[in-house]
Amino acid sequence: MRIVITGASSGLGEALALHYAVPENRLVLIARREERLEDVARRCRVRGAGVETVVADVNDFERMRSVGKTLAQQPIDRIILNAGVSVGHSGGVTPFEDFERLFATNFLSVHALLEPIIPKLIEQQSGEIVFISSLASLFTMPTSIAYSSSKRALNAYAEGLHHQLCPDGVRVMTIMPGFIDSEMTQKNRFKMPFFMSTEKGIERIARAISKKKVRYAFPFRFYLMIRIVSMLPQPLRDKIVHFTNFKKGS
Ligand SMILES: NC(=O)c1ccc[n+]([C@@H]2O[C@H](COP(=O)([O-])OP(=O)(O)OC[C@H]3O[C@@H](n4cnc5c(N)ncnc54)[C@H](OP(=O)(O)O)[C@@H]3O)[C@@H](O)[C@H]2O)c1
Repeated sequence: MRIVITGASSGLGEALALHYAVPENRLVLIARREERLEDVARRCRVRGAGVETVVADVNDFERMRSVGKTLAQQPIDRIILNAGVSVGHSGGVTPFEDFERLFATNFLSVHALLEPIIPKLIEQQSGEIVFISSLASLFTMPTSIAYSSSKRALNAYAEGLHHQLCPDGVRVMTIMPGFIDSEMTQKNRFKMPFFMSTEKGIERIARAISKKKVRYAFPFRFYLMIRIVSMLPQPLRDKIVHFTNFKKGS
């Protein structure tokens, strides 16, 4: 399989690259930190995979379009849109710049890369697009307005793309994880409910991908809590949000 992974220099992207690093696979790994990316690539090659690296900032949309065009010159079996950033706020108005950066990285960059790739997948009548969203896309805390908004926009995009590409045999999957150990969560200074090791998180994600789940949110108990809270009358929801202890941003 030829598998493209963005944000492959650390955390979930790195772990996914290593998970798919088997002799049958050719990986294309994308991120900004060259040394980190090359180290991941080296470890994937040791496991027998063919690896190509692309050192690029996904916020450089023209570069992403051109990377997408190059990638689309050969068949693509799976593309995992994982690159992402978060920012927490302990109070006050979210700075516009945070919205700009989070929407660029977590949302807009995705279509810059996919725009030239989608026609290739339609031509192939096969392929998988996997979005790494977040449980935060389902419920917005006052401390993560920009992050949740960017991930919710990603969900809407993924949903539309699923409906558009389903008849062409292209599978679109949206994975919504809770808290998983990574550089991103190591910065958090608040209690993270149902916190999961990277290994366990990747095992769940890889299983959902292999089962071709269109939407997969986990851990289940955390997802259920969010769904239940979302269904409560607004005054009760407000009370829960304001008493919960993950109000403090990182
Ligand atoms: N960990 C969690 O609990 C959790 C939960 C839900 C969803 N997620 C999502 O999972 C994804 C991976 O996050 P993670 O937890 O693994 O965090 P991480 O360890 O910080 O990894 C983020 C990855 O994204 C890349 N990246 C960030 N900005 C980029 C840019 N402008 N251009 C290119 N690459 C960029 C980083 O590479 P460079 O810095 O080298 O560019 C890095 O490889 C994110 O989309 C995140 O929102 C994580």
